[in-house]
Amino acid sequence: MSLTIKPVSPAIGAEIEGLDLREPLDAAGRGAILDAFHEYILLLFRGQDLTEDQQTTFATTFGELGKRTVGARFVKAPKDAYASPVMMVTNRSDEGPTGGTASFGDGDMWFHHDTCFYPVPNIVTMLYGIEVTSQGGLTRVSNMYRAYDNIPGALRDRLEGRTVLQVYDYNRYRIDPGVDLEGARSHSQPIFVTHPVTGKKALYVNRTMTACIEGMDKAESDAILDELFDIAEDDRIVHDHRWRVGDLLMWDNRCSTHARTDFPGEESRVLRRCTVAGKEPVHA
Ligand SMILES: [Fe+2]
Repeated sequence: MSLTIKPVSPAIGAEIEGLDLREPLDAAGRGAILDAFHEYILLLFRGQDLTEDQQTTFATTFGELGKRTVGARFVKAPKDAYASPVMMVTNRSDEGPTGGTASFGDGDMWFHHDTCFYPVPNIVTMLYGIEVTSQGGLTRVSNMYRAYDNIPGALRDRLEGRTVLQVYDYNRYRIDPGVDLEGARSHSQPIFVTHPVTGKKALYVNRTMTACIEGMDKAESDAILDELFDIAEDDRIVHDHRWRVGDLLMWDNRCSTHARTDFPGEESRVLRRCTVAGKEPVHA
């Protein structure tokens, strides 16, 4: 087996060529992929042809599969939908190939860290392209190590050791600081985290879910968060992934955020998602 690792942008991400993910990995291949994952944060494998089982088997290269605990937002899911570690990210309202586990339907999504509003967020999100749109629907992924490094030193020093409230309100989609958070899922997390493998520090806030810096005056918290969101969403640290059928895209939620651009609602978009379970984030 010979792998080629090619960076996809100066900011973040690499494409790995020469691998059929249906085949079992040997120790050397597994080591090479893990090293690339820790170096590049975002990995792309193109031209794959994966069943659900093959995708989840590959995901276990990175750890234990994440359980589904999130309610489907756009399509009513049967009660047993959450028994599966797999979810379809799709705008298709029929249950067809999604088995009633469809979620995150149409439109754009702002930058966010997946499941950061839980005590133990998933570390990996893995998406496989089954149907893609002719335009739009890009997955944007931003490098949170670089964001941390780009925070002005005096501000970074002031924020060290602080915590933020991460919130996901399923009824409102985007968090509006100051709203009544009753019924929303939330958890206090470090504002900066240290990656347990690389030892590097990463910014851990995002515009969709971070409601406030805890213990700080609201106006000041809002102003600082706005500044941090702009740093986190700087185009210079973002890679835009344009989907093709057969793409397997995965990223590390501990040191990246991601977003989605809008796409034609009349076209069908189906991505099969699974995750890898994590450990509690550690203060930087
Ligand atoms: Fe997401």
